[in-house]
Amino acid sequence: MKPKKQFFTTPIYYVNAKPHLGHAYTSIAADVATRFKQIDDYETFFLTGTDEHGDKIVQAAQKQETTPKEYADNISQLFQDLLPVLNVKNNHFIRTTDPGHIQVVKDVLSKIYDSGDIYFSSYEGLYCFGCERFYQERELIDGKCQDHGVEPTVIKESNYFFKMSKYQKWLINHIKANPDFIQPEQYKNEILSFLKDPLEDLCISRPKSRLTWGITLPFDEDYVTYVWFDALVNYISALGYPDGKLFKKFWPSTRHFVAKDIIKPHGIYWPIMLKAADIEIYNGLNVHGFWNVKGSKMSKSIGNVTDPIQVTNKYGIDPFRYFLMREMVFGLDANFTEETIVSRINSDLANDLGNLFSRVLSMNSRYFTGEVKGSDAKIEKQKNLSLASDAKKAVDEFKQAMSLCEFHKGVGAIWQFISIMNKYIDTTAPWTLAKDDANVLILGTVLYNLIEGLRVVSCLIYPIMPQTSLKMQETLCMEKREKGFYSLEETFPWGQIKKGTIIEKPDILFPRIDTNKIKPKSHKKKLSASNFDKSVAPGNPVK
Ligand code: ME8
Ligand code: MG
Repeated sequence: MKPKKQFFTTPIYYVNAKPHLGHAYTSIAADVATRFKQIDDYETFFLTGTDEHGDKIVQAAQKQETTPKEYADNISQLFQDLLPVLNVKNNHFIRTTDPGHIQVVKDVLSKIYDSGDIYFSSYEGLYCFGCERFYQERELIDGKCQDHGVEPTVIKESNYFFKMSKYQKWLINHIKANPDFIQPEQYKNEILSFLKDPLEDLCISRPKSRLTWGITLPFDEDYVTYVWFDALVNYISALGYPDGKLFKKFWPSTRHFVAKDIIKPHGIYWPIMLKAADIEIYNGLNVHGFWNVKGSKMSKSIGNVTDPIQVTNKYGIDPFRYFLMREMVFGLDANFTEETIVSRINSDLANDLGNLFSRVLSMNSRYFTGEVKGSDAKIEKQKNLSLASDAKKAVDEFKQAMSLCEFHKGVGAIWQFISIMNKYIDTTAPWTLAKDDANVLILGTVLYNLIEGLRVVSCLIYPIMPQTSLKMQETLCMEKREKGFYSLEETFPWGQIKKGTIIEKPDILFPRIDTNKIKPKSHKKKLSASNFDKSVAPGNPVK
């Protein structure tokens, strides 16, 4: 059988401002998806990076009285430094100022130019400097660009155009023939509905008289490349297109993660660029919604631009990752508030999972001095005590949802199983069983099933909460895997924790957060967060 492969990308982020919650989300989502593919035995490659050319960056650099390159270096570094803070493990970080990338952009432009799909023409249109693109009148609302709330400027100039219109029919057919090309469905429909109107050709150059911070066109020295034409090419230049080993290996298995703000360049320009350059079309686009903060779009003027480093320092990496995956229905918008993250941590993490873990292992300590007694097959059957089929159902549902990037459902499948285990404790009442020595085999069987259930949970949460996964596995004395995780296949069969294993009482996995402390002016205070961070830090001795 051919080994399974997967290439995931995030957008390359503009370096005109430092990273915020939205950037952190896409990077974490792509990391969770990558780690999921790894436990599903895929060989993966995960790319992220920064988009550094164009007007936006020149303007931001001017404000800081520095050069675009120096400015880009500084902000790009902030994006790179954020990754380990979020425990996001990328294979490569691409910058559009990398010489290798610049060369590939020129090669692709030359290829399309030579094939006749790029032409020179003069154009007058409505240009939004913020978006760095021309608008058609019908796209404006009250004559203004929606994103920036400003009236575009009328600009007349000669430029190079890419014949996108030529490929419109082809693209519509391609989208219809490949149902998961744009996911979820609502975004596919949005693109198809946009494609009902005739597609205009794309202006892919900017005269150097207006902008020099860009990649010079290989066929005209007086022009630089339009920033989107430059940026999209990162996905192949990073893999070493055309001859690189990585390109050959991973490009046929590509899915791009983006938010809804940039589906047009990804769902329309990019496939057409690939088609025109005679490069295989990427497999698909996973589109998510927007995070609002306290009910509003993040904006400097409202002052609600959320810094992911602050949130991580306060609540810990794993709880932050968990919250983002659980709270947002992939594809829809979600709302970020301190109250919701605290309530998720207290109810889902501290209560449902953390308490279950500590209750089960404390009982095993108390009743059996930490020794795993194992299950008595006869009693298990007679009393219907096995949790194996519930665990199997959780694994199957988790796998199904995660394969479709329905992260909230994947997490939901694990928590459904956790809730079954909590109810199982209530109904089997081990504390009552423990009162009578005659029940020792039943008690052993009950605790064994719970411990096995926790083992399965520890394997499944890995993509979302890698540190907690490892911490649970260390506590459960599971053999350490060199690759750092148990694959889905290794998660079964049931019954892997050996009879006779001694399991110590665990540290608290997720301390509860005192809600009284976070209410007024919460972000100024340092809370129990420091303890919290220590408790999930890898390599912390687990006692
Ligand atoms: O568009 N909620 O870069 P960008 C969720 N350079 N995700 C958000 C978000 C929010 N409120 N805000 C931003 C660009 N994002 C181009 C991309 S790719 C070839 C070039 C995330 O810095 C989300 O992934 O504006 C969105 O698509 C991306 O940041 C836009 O980042
Ligand atoms: Mg943007």
